[in-house]
Formats: sequence, C-alpha cells, structure tokens
Amino acid sequence: MGYGGVPVLRRLNLRIDQDDRIALLGRNGEGKSTLSKLLANKLQAAEGRIIRHSKLRIGYFAQHQVDELHIDETPLQHIQRLRPEEGQPRLRARLAGFGLMADQAETVVGRLSGGQKARLSLLLATIDAPHLLILDEPTNHLDMESREALVEALTEYPGAVVLVSHDMHLLGLVADRLWLVKGGAVEPYTEDLDAYRRQLLAGDEVKSEAKPLEKPKKISRDDMLALKAEVRRCEEILTKLNDMRDKLAKKLADPALYEDARKGELATWNAKYGEVMNGLDRAEAMWLAAQEKLEAAT
Ligand SMILES: Nc1ncnc2c1ncn2[C@@H]1O[C@H](COP(=O)(O)OP(=O)(O)O)[C@@H](O)[C@H]1O
Ligand SMILES: [Mg+2]
Repeated sequence: MGYGGVPVLRRLNLRIDQDDRIALLGRNGEGKSTLSKLLANKLQAAEGRIIRHSKLRIGYFAQHQVDELHIDETPLQHIQRLRPEEGQPRLRARLAGFGLMADQAETVVGRLSGGQKARLSLLLATIDAPHLLILDEPTNHLDMESREALVEALTEYPGAVVLVSHDMHLLGLVADRLWLVKGGAVEPYTEDLDAYRRQLLAGDEVKSEAKPLEKPKKISRDDMLALKAEVRRCEEILTKLNDMRDKLAKKLADPALYEDARKGELATWNAKYGEVMNGLDRAEAMWLAAQEKLEAAT
C-alpha cells in the first residue's frame, strides 16, 4: 500500500484478534500512520486483501481528527447528530465522561482549548463502542488532564487497540504486543519496550545486526562500584518519582476536584504533576546514561 503508485508498505501478513493491544513502533516516516489508516479503512490497499468481520466497528483517532470538528457548533450539537434519539441528560453525561462539563458542552468548538477539542474527538471516535480502536499519536498536544483520562480509558478498554505513540509510559500501560514498522515491512518486534527505547536512545538502527563495538576500556574496581552505585541511586529516584506520580494521578482522578470552587487546588495539583513528570524524564535519562556506562564497562 502506498501513495500515487509508490508503495510504502509491502507484503504485510498480519492478524488482529479482538483483545489484542498492539503498539506500532518505528521511526518517523516508516509508515505507522499509513498502516493505521489502512486498518481504519481510511485508505485502500493497492494489492492484496483484508478480511474483516462484517459487523466489525472501528474507531479511529488521530490528532488531525480535531480539524474535522465543526468550529461553529457545540460539543452537544456534535453528539446530537450522532445520537439524535438520545435525550439531553444522557448526551450531557457522555460529554462529562470525557471531561466536557456543562459550560463546555454549549461552547462552540472554535472557542474550546486544544485538550477539550481532542477529548471531544476521542468521544466521537469511541461513541459506537468500537471493537477495534486505532489511535495515532493520541497524546500529542493533549493537556495533562486529557492524557490521564486517555490512559485510564485505554487500560480499561475492552476491545482491541492499535496505538501509535512516542509516550513510552502510555505504550507500557496499554500495549501487550509490539509491531515494528520498518523498511516497508511490519513485523512483530521480538524484544521489549525497554530494549526498543535503549536502541532509540543509543541512536542504533533498531533491530540491526550487531555492530562492532568499541573496544571496552579496562576500568578499576572502584570505578565499577561507583557506576553501580550511580545506577542504584537513579533507580531509587525513579521509584520515588513514580510513586509520587501515581499518588498525584489518583488525586487528579477525583471528579470532586473539578468543581468550580476547587479551581485553585486543581491548578496546584496539576502544576505538581507537571513537575513530577519532568523530573521523571530527567531521571530516566540519567538512569539510561548510567546503565549504558555500566554495560559498556562490563
Ligand atoms: N498523503 C500522502 N501522500 C504521499 N506520501 C505520503 C502521504 N502520507 C504519507 N506519505 C509518505 O509515506 C511514508 C510513510 O508516512 P507515515 O505513514 O506518515 O509515517 P509515520 O506515521 O511512521 O511517520 C512517508 O515517506 C511519507 O512521506
Ligand atoms: Mg505518523
């Protein structure tokens, strides 16, 4: 399959079952979005065939989905169109379930924040309870609240999920199968996410044949112990930050916090959460660097 007769992906032989949770890995431009659109029936294969159950419902969410919203209509009008038979209370409850409260339900889309628009798009993509949900970089430009809501929704989602994301945390929570999109092929990735991330960070070609390594330098026993201590220290920091993140996420999942009267409190917790997430990024990078040094030395 490809564009204008030029193939991007060739000779795919893939199968998706109803409880599969698949992450598509691969560098930019390798064809993850192309495969997502093929699976979502948004693009046709030039050759070959796809067999789907005749009643299969598919939901598709990508960031540009937001551009397909009608900017002069409200979220309520959007779902009314899809669910004309449902009463206002039911529709409003659906919106609230995606964090769009009474005010936003009747604000025209053009005046909503990026995160609010993304949440509306996600609601529209999942309103039919699709058997297969395809998400192409869903967290890009999502605010923290929406990101947490998405993580929660996805981990509890009963159907099949195909997910493209650079967010390793999200991938780790959601995916239990990995497919690597590379060089026009799509194959199961045999290693785990950590291995994939290490390869990415090391700037290695993913899944490449082993390259000749630099000759390892002899290091002293003391240096070795210092390296090990550094790795342990990073792990302790990571554990602490992860705990903090989990606690904050729990706090932020409390609907009562989103009442108007508690706006200030919410802002404080949100800011704390942002700090912890930044800290986690830094701590992870430190841990990786320490780990690599240690590996190079042993
Ligand atoms: N609409 C299009 N027309 C022509 N080429 C496209 C189009 N969309 C994507 N491509 C090309 O197909 C290849 C795969 O792109 P894409 O599926 O977006 O990769 P990824 O999502 O992995 O970054 C790229 O070389 C890209 O330039
Ligand atoms: Mg893409």
